[in-house]
Amino acid sequence: MPLLDLQGPVVNRPPVTHVPAPAGSSAAARKFGVKPMPELVWNEDVARETAHLYERIKAVVPAVEWPIFAPYVKAINELKRERNAVILAHNYQTPEIYNCVADFVGDSLQLAREASKVKSEIIVQCGVHFMAETSKILNPEKTVLIPDSRAGCSLAASITGEDVRLLRDRYPGVPVVAYVNTSADVKAEVDICCTSSNALQVVESLGSDTVIFLPDQYLAKYVASQTKVKIIAWKGACEVHERFTADELRMYRESDPTLQIIAHPECPPDVLAEADYTGSTAGMIDWVRHNRPKRIVMVTECSMADNVQAELPDVEFVRPCNLCPHMKRITLPKILDSLVYMKEEVVIDPMVADKARRSVERMVNLQN
Ligand code: 13P
Ligand code: SF4
Repeated sequence: MPLLDLQGPVVNRPPVTHVPAPAGSSAAARKFGVKPMPELVWNEDVARETAHLYERIKAVVPAVEWPIFAPYVKAINELKRERNAVILAHNYQTPEIYNCVADFVGDSLQLAREASKVKSEIIVQCGVHFMAETSKILNPEKTVLIPDSRAGCSLAASITGEDVRLLRDRYPGVPVVAYVNTSADVKAEVDICCTSSNALQVVESLGSDTVIFLPDQYLAKYVASQTKVKIIAWKGACEVHERFTADELRMYRESDPTLQIIAHPECPPDVLAEADYTGSTAGMIDWVRHNRPKRIVMVTECSMADNVQAELPDVEFVRPCNLCPHMKRITLPKILDSLVYMKEEVVIDPMVADKARRSVERMVNLQN
């Protein structure tokens, strides 16, 4: 059914940005100490020690580029062991991060589940800031680092905790669901979180005939199209997925009627109407693994097609893809800096984190 209402901020506010702290200045740097920067050289030893990692990405990273990545990969993996740190990486990370230094990869839900089980004292989150905040919310006693704290998200920047309080005043008693692509401040004000892989299940779990769903208006529309629950949405959008158009997909389909098209639910409804499958980033990857199409368009961020291509070289990816500029702020040199200088530490007001934890844990604990 169509959305019941679409709300937006009263005034246009500047996006939420995170100011990076100087190297070595964090509480984490004082607690764990700063290490010397490893020597970054490319020689026969490095080539031999990293050859098995290059094997994983050779379908998508040209051999001439590996001598640039390999010294960082080696240094990061050594330092990670020395520091007893774990690297969680989102499916949108570039292939050399996703395949060569990450300990766990996945969509937002999988990363949140993984974060709740981590044993190491230090988590390095290769993804955007709200993902690192989610890890910190679930692990208040652990040190969570993000290689570049300016890695934001247009959805997370579209709404504040104050906006949620105003929505509650406008719709008293209506439960509020927040997509995890929100700040800790917003999570602290809502009843439960969701991700793109469990949004429908979360909305229906509340037993209410009306739900406020924020901040992604397109994910809200997608959920509304699949449930009888009436949805009040927020006007946020993903700057990456809203750029895809139904026209471009029809053009690709006309040029090859056997082409498969799969899309992320952050896309507008007319784009989703062209897709053979809609799902979270992990859902899309699983779909390709199971269906093994000859040619496919993944209507999502570019690096994901690279990562699946690295695993399944026989599948041909047609690439009208858009880059997420925030995800792309995370690079091997910045991951190394994180581990050397213990930066940039994710810090959340403990009272906000306690409130936010309830809504994240309520989601994580929902039965599959
Ligand atoms: P997933 O939870 O599907 O990985 O989505 C996160 C995201 O930011 C997509 O743009
Ligand atoms: Fe946010 Fe969109 Fe980037 Fe995902 S792809 S992190 S929703 S801006």
